[in-house]
Amino acid sequence: MALLKLLMCSVFVSLTLTSFSPARAAQMPPPVKAAYWPSWFSESFPPSAINTALFTHVYFAFLMPSNRSFTFDLPESTAAQLSQFTTSLRRKTPPVKTLFSIGGGGSDSALFARIASDAKSRQIFIDSSIKTARKFGFDGLDLDWEFPKDTTEMKYFADLITQWRKTIDREAKLTSRPPLLLSAAVYYASEFLINGERRSFPAAEISKSLDWINVMCFDYHGSWDTTATGAHAALFDPHTNLSSYYGLRSWISAGVPRNKMVMGIPLYGKSWTLKDPYVHGVGAPAVGVGPGDDGILTYVQVKEFNQKTGATVVYDIRTVSAYSYVNTSWVGYDDIKSTTTKVEFARANGLRGYFFWALSYDSVDWEISTQASNAWVDDQY
Ligand SMILES: *[C@@H]1O[C@H](CO)[C@@H](O)[C@H](O)[C@H]1NC(C)=O
Ligand SMILES: *[C@@H]1O[C@H](CO)[C@@H](O)[C@H](O)[C@H]1NC(C)=O
Ligand SMILES: *[C@@H]1O[C@H](CO)[C@@H](O)[C@H](O)[C@H]1NC(C)=O
Repeated sequence: MALLKLLMCSVFVSLTLTSFSPARAAQMPPPVKAAYWPSWFSESFPPSAINTALFTHVYFAFLMPSNRSFTFDLPESTAAQLSQFTTSLRRKTPPVKTLFSIGGGGSDSALFARIASDAKSRQIFIDSSIKTARKFGFDGLDLDWEFPKDTTEMKYFADLITQWRKTIDREAKLTSRPPLLLSAAVYYASEFLINGERRSFPAAEISKSLDWINVMCFDYHGSWDTTATGAHAALFDPHTNLSSYYGLRSWISAGVPRNKMVMGIPLYGKSWTLKDPYVHGVGAPAVGVGPGDDGILTYVQVKEFNQKTGATVVYDIRTVSAYSYVNTSWVGYDDIKSTTTKVEFARANGLRGYFFWALSYDSVDWEISTQASNAWVDDQY
């Protein structure tokens, strides 16, 4: 419970409670301020539009290996996109590091299980990933396998990242280049129950083999539950375990070092249709999804919605989130204030940084990304 107190104090009482001594700070790796770039929006949001002053790492989302060869047999159009991505980001001042992310929500999870189940297929996949990264000038790789579905697949996941790290280190030595970065996007909690089976991520192998994990601290509520509104990226929730506080704490308890944890922050909201327009808090009765694509609105769209409808905007200090409502339309999202609090929370608790899903969802003037970057004060470096 000491842990619980530490986390709570740091955000609500005093940020200095957990601040680091200069001696320790000197050993701290530089912060990660990352964001994923969805490649399917490249027409409207090309890599050249990215403001690199606000980020340290940008992820190309996503690539998938072939389900026959397990290698990255990329169509020419994808290859061109990768080149354009790394070339235009390399030209920018300041520069950012680039990684490509493999998988993504809704990708073929069974394929990852097949690849990871066997040392030989793992090696084929790993070698191809490294070759692809070097060919296009990426600084690293990211695995977004959603999700290893049982104890066996968690073991495969462990084997895969262990072998990946070994191969990356060997390649770096052989070629005298800096080793590629290796990260993974993971579930908000280190272990969870599904259909009565407990699944635990392999914390020891994660700590040893990955540079960091991107903890997906969002999607706690959505179109699968239309009976009530929800703060889908709540930092705290007094009633359930669906909160970033709970999830991050579970990762710390599992033994993953805090400085290997990067906290996810969504640049999108979730909407519901209220049952009663006069009952509109977080958790208010709802009858379906609200505006947006299956109840999802990007931050830009939320802003538009608020302006166009004159919706009432409320900040919910309990969950550290914002919501707006007009008549029976209700949207829960992260605004400047909640994002700032989350970034301060991550920093005060010794996490490595934060990441956004997704880059192009911020307002045109980079409102949220700017605020987040400013909130992570680098006074210790
Ligand atoms: C492999 O991918 C192709 C194309 O997406 C699909 O049609 C096929 O069913 C997949 N095969 C397996 C074994 O998953
Ligand atoms: C939350 O998780 C803890 C274990 O980490 C468990 O004991 C508790 O029952 C859970 N609470 C709810 C409301 O699910
Ligand atoms: C809300 O309801 C009022 C009264 O029915 C209506 O005039 C108004 O256009 C509605 N606003 C929106 C944004 O739907």
